[in-house]
Amino acid sequence: MRAKTSAEIEAMRQGGKKLAQILQDLAAQTQPGVSPKEIADMAAAEIKKAGLQPVLQGYEGFDNVMCISVNEGIVHGMPGKRPIKEGDIVNLDLTVGYKNLILDSAVSVYAGLTPPADVKRLLEGTRKALEAGINAIRGNGTRVGDISAATQDVLDRYKLGIIRDLVGHAIGDKIHEEPNIPNYGVTGTGPVLPAGVTLAIEPMASLGDWHIDTAKDGWTVVMRDGSIGAHFEHTVLVTEKGAEILTAL
Ligand code: MF3
Ligand code: CO
Ligand code: CO
Repeated sequence: MRAKTSAEIEAMRQGGKKLAQILQDLAAQTQPGVSPKEIADMAAAEIKKAGLQPVLQGYEGFDNVMCISVNEGIVHGMPGKRPIKEGDIVNLDLTVGYKNLILDSAVSVYAGLTPPADVKRLLEGTRKALEAGINAIRGNGTRVGDISAATQDVLDRYKLGIIRDLVGHAIGDKIHEEPNIPNYGVTGTGPVLPAGVTLAIEPMASLGDWHIDTAKDGWTVVMRDGSIGAHFEHTVLVTEKGAEILTAL
């Protein structure tokens, strides 16, 4: 974790907007009949066109520019060729570099017209947990536990399983930097977050139990009980007074 200069912050704003536009377009393309591989190919083309760096390609051996995870797959999915079906829940997680600074954002979308009530609860609860985590950043002096407690509070209220073995983190020079930002915790505890640092906040939740496994492909993180998972992520800047979402339009 390192406070960024104003020029770096401006670069991350610009890169973050480009990422957000691409992610929104990919979400609109996430429809029954389209494969994750096809969505990821669109992402690769758009990353190139926007002058972004595909930093995930080759990261720890990952062989794509983005992660796409379906249903009980919650994160780190290697985009596959099997077409998305009506009713699938698809997580799109896009990581890019811009001027050598890294940005990361994810959304989970329902492929179909009207999600069933439990899926609606999952998507809304996880999205609101992200919002609450960001709103818990009160500027210079915010502690990690403040964010964690805020995300946990929402996920608990929505009666969702909180993934414990995967966490948010600082980001910028590398994809994953210290400190970790768990999605459960206690207000007023943990490392202090000074203004100027950039964080990936990313609640991950399920309709069932919180335990996870790694799928046979060696990448996709799946819910052990086969329940459906969701994940929303933004890269944010801690400011003097609060937080600024860098990966928003
Ligand atoms: N985008 C992921 C995150 O939010 C990182 C994926 S790393 C991979 O932390 F190797 F699994 F792709
Ligand atoms: Co991500
Ligand atoms: Co992350």
